Amino acid sequence: MTKPLLDVLQGKTPEHMPVWLMRQAGRYLPEYRELRAKAKNFLNLCLTPEWATEITLQPIRRFGMDGAILFADILLVPMALGLSLDFREGEGPILECVTDQHSIERLSYNNGLVHPVYETLTRIKPQLPDHTTLIGFCGAPWTVACYMIDGNSKNDFAQAKQWASQQPELLDSVIQKLVDASARYLCKQVEAGAEALQIFDSWAGLITDEAAFRRFVIEPTRTIVSRVKAQHPYVPIIGFPREAWSHYKRYIRETGVDAMSVDHALSLSTDGKQLQAIKPLQGNLSPDLLVQGGEAMKRSLDHIYEQMGLRHIMNLGHGVVPQTPPEHVADLVKHTRGFKA
Ligand code: CP3
Repeated sequence: MTKPLLDVLQGKTPEHMPVWLMRQAGRYLPEYRELRAKAKNFLNLCLTPEWATEITLQPIRRFGMDGAILFADILLVPMALGLSLDFREGEGPILECVTDQHSIERLSYNNGLVHPVYETLTRIKPQLPDHTTLIGFCGAPWTVACYMIDGNSKNDFAQAKQWASQQPELLDSVIQKLVDASARYLCKQVEAGAEALQIFDSWAGLITDEAAFRRFVIEPTRTIVSRVKAQHPYVPIIGFPREAWSHYKRYIRETGVDAMSVDHALSLSTDGKQLQAIKPLQGNLSPDLLVQGGEAMKRSLDHIYEQMGLRHIMNLGHGVVPQTPPEHVADLVKHTRGFKA
């Protein structure tokens, strides 16, 4: 049996339109909240293979998506580089910061610290339905650097933006560390069973200047993609340069990714079609429409199908939000199953 998600990533027409959702495992699911309460802290969940496996599989059991995304977090890489990481209740992540050249030079990637992640992938793989693709991931260097420089998102990454414009060499050296670590991390994920990879650049839209975008987003992503593909030529990679509208075309052409995930503000009838002529796209449904559900959501799903056809990966423009009713996710998957050859 072929896997619809891999088919689209390989440029083929799938039997049905594949669907999975960013943050498909998480607080909107009661079974997640139950395990989360038991584990006490979010990092324990990510680093205990038994739990991370269970959480990855929860949405697959309920909804039967075509993609199962590894349960982990993009901030495990800076943790493995030596920065302390904490997730406080209701506050989001708090990461130890780098402040100067010395604190950057001290960073050294300890692959052993993320070993539980690889074990999780190995455990998930045999438990997946035949049609479901196992997706590994990492954060893109720019987005992870934002957290390493500012520690959290409270100030809209003012410091990281300041480094990008005033101290670009310092930012280069953080990004260099992340490129090396992320390429190794992704290769190991493939060796542990990941069949496709996604690079999350959630804050790509913060960089507007074209030269800076090339330097801090395109070039580091291109290097990671080429290093992973040097080891694993056939593993497809999805890029997600969120809200980097004016750079989408450059990104999809120049990074070497096999597909690009797009947010909900992109107009599919104009820009979406142009981009899809270059590489397949993923995403575009608004997370708010998933909260709303019903006919409005179905109309939006139909619109995506009408504009993109089957060679598209149904997904949101960003992650599932905690107030999403699980029944709406079931409706989304069921409705998308109607899109077939
Ligand atoms: O998508 C999935 O289901 C897989 C798991 C996954 C998580 N985070 C679990 C998580 C993935 C792929 C991520 C990626 C991630 N993590 C990103 C990029 C994607 C995006 O959302 O933009 C970023 C920026 C992070 C960093 C991060 N982790 C933040 C900002 C937060 C707090 C925000 C929040 O929703 O609370 C987290 C915590 C986090 N990561 C949760 C989950 C399920 C919630 C933790 C909890 O249960 O309290």
